[in-house]
Amino acid sequence: MSAGVIAIDGPAASGKGTLARRIAAAFGVPHLDTGLLYRAVAARCLAAGGLDDEAASIAAARALEVTGLDAEALRSAEIGAAASVVAARPGVRAALMDLQRRFAAQPGGAVLDGRDIGTVICPDAAAKLFVTATPEVRARRRLNELLGRGAPATYDAVLADIRTRDARDSGRAAAPLLQAPDALRLDTTDLDIEAAFAAAMALIAGKR
Ligand code: C5P
Repeated sequence: MSAGVIAIDGPAASGKGTLARRIAAAFGVPHLDTGLLYRAVAARCLAAGGLDDEAASIAAARALEVTGLDAEALRSAEIGAAASVVAARPGVRAALMDLQRRFAAQPGGAVLDGRDIGTVICPDAAAKLFVTATPEVRARRRLNELLGRGAPATYDAVLADIRTRDARDSGRAAAPLLQAPDALRLDTTDLDIEAAFAAAMALIAGKR
């Protein structure tokens, strides 16, 4: 039986990426981290001189393919912040829409995670999760992840970055970060990854 599309949205460092990977593995379906698409667009703009040229960012989005994205290189805080700038542009979002919908249309089903999967990209998804946690807990997780990779970071700087990104992602006019009315909310503030995964699978099982 096809798993259908499982849409997982939420703010930065909520745990949605790890959950999405685990859920995709459990169902044996492909997973797309859509944040990587916006990060790749931002990285190409930064490499070409900056984020100001909106037309260049749209052209970079049109040229993007889902294969061959270097997740490790795209994970930096600088690229994350730049991604949320280019992601506010409707032209960039429109240019990345087909790519995401084609990925979602694979016959066996797929898991996509991002900010607008349940609201805009896959409104008919078989199951939708909205994964949250307090900004403080998300900052602590992101800090540990950055330090684990040897990247320089402080708690205060990471928390400030998370608050800025939350405000930009939720406040933008184009596909803001929103819980879809039919999405199931999963607050991971007090859950470790195993408990969050178990809770996510139980929510999805109840939906299918
Ligand atoms: O999830 P991640 O932190 O990698 O996303 C980077 C940025 O890309 C987010 O802050 C958000 O602005 C943007 N994004 C988006 N829509 C998505 C996925 C990511 O706007 N579906």
